[in-house]
Amino acid sequence: MNRMFTKSHFARHIFQHQHKLIQQLLQNQIRLCSGGSQQVKQALRLDEDDINNINIRTVAPPATPFPMTLEHAADVGEQFKYSDLSVRLAAPHQLHPKPDADDLSFGKYFTDHMLRIAYHRRLGGWQKPEITPMENLNLHPAAKVFHYAVELFEGMKAYRGVDGRIRLFRPEMNMARMNVTAHRSGLPTFDGEALIKAMCRLILIDSEWVPHTESSSLYIRPTLIGIEPTLGVASSDSALLYTILSPVGAYFKPGAGGLKLYADPKYTRSWHGGVGDRKVGSNYGPTIHVQKEALKQGCHQVLWLYGDDHELTEVGVMNVFMLYINDNGEKEMLTPPLDGLILPGITRDSIIRLCREWGEFTIKEQKFTMPWIRQLAKKGRLLEMFGAGTAAVVSPIERIAYEGEEIYVPTDAQDSPVYRRLYDTLTGIQYGKIDHPWATVID
Ligand code: COI
Repeated sequence: MNRMFTKSHFARHIFQHQHKLIQQLLQNQIRLCSGGSQQVKQALRLDEDDINNINIRTVAPPATPFPMTLEHAADVGEQFKYSDLSVRLAAPHQLHPKPDADDLSFGKYFTDHMLRIAYHRRLGGWQKPEITPMENLNLHPAAKVFHYAVELFEGMKAYRGVDGRIRLFRPEMNMARMNVTAHRSGLPTFDGEALIKAMCRLILIDSEWVPHTESSSLYIRPTLIGIEPTLGVASSDSALLYTILSPVGAYFKPGAGGLKLYADPKYTRSWHGGVGDRKVGSNYGPTIHVQKEALKQGCHQVLWLYGDDHELTEVGVMNVFMLYINDNGEKEMLTPPLDGLILPGITRDSIIRLCREWGEFTIKEQKFTMPWIRQLAKKGRLLEMFGAGTAAVVSPIERIAYEGEEIYVPTDAQDSPVYRRLYDTLTGIQYGKIDHPWATVID
């Protein structure tokens, strides 16, 4: 090892190579002198300098689909602080082998550590954040999360760039959306910036789990649950905010081609006045039965419709976009407006901004319906449709099974499809090929 290494370099080196070092330790390829394991343990605990050295570059975005800061209600109490974060590292026997990038699929493996922050109103509010080994939670069977689905989550990713550096994509947006969702769920709001810093620390500890390929990433799942063990339908005075990490491959199997969608107006995922625009777990559980129905019908995903005119809302777990030729013979892109039925996706927002920046066609947030899509397809004016979200990025749509018909969408038959350019641009930013303020480097 280079003698010029400072203590913080040394600590970082150990974190980056932790799994290999521990394997070597176990295989006796590294011999520690007496007290050595203590030194390693100490080195694995970042000191104050390291905490302050975690470099987070964020850029304040322009107007967003939800408030970027939320005033905490007076009764939320104390906020947690990043500087109070403690770390308890996994013992060698708790470390998991890292899977091959080819075997990842979505959400099947988890890293060695997790972040957890408890909230207890009676203790004054948020407690100190801690990073611990990945462990089962120990909850009372009456915890509100189990009975009334008092639960919400976010989906984010850490990307290993072509330069080897790890990046997040617009993380402040996830924090803002999580806070508006917490507010809607009667759960305590929190300091999003402090959570980003704590999550960065977690990712750096498990940094070798961030896949070294561009086809994979580390999925970040911040989750907030109501854990008060009482059966009243009321806000939860105790909560748990935790984050787990999962190396993931493509959400849809590579080479599967465009998506075939099942559009049955008898099912809906959201309604006006509901929480379709908030990222609560209870929006997803009830879709599983319909997704099974879609598979039975030979489709990949559900196209969610709403109302008597069968307006399109979302596709599977993604926002939906359509490119078509308008009445003036011009290309125009549409996505449903944020009218309460639609999740304000961060990929959705990024696509709208990119298309506006390119200025090559109009992009509008506007309602559109299945009968209209059917007509556009018949007239040859339907060009592309795709879904967009963190997990699935941008996924082309090829067919829609609707009212006994199969509507063909020529998304992949276009000369240079817009969806592909969007995919390339977004992943280019995420994997450090395009320098862009949306990418936040963490090191
Ligand atoms: C995401 O795109 O991050 C999502 O939240 C989808 C998830 C429900 C699998």
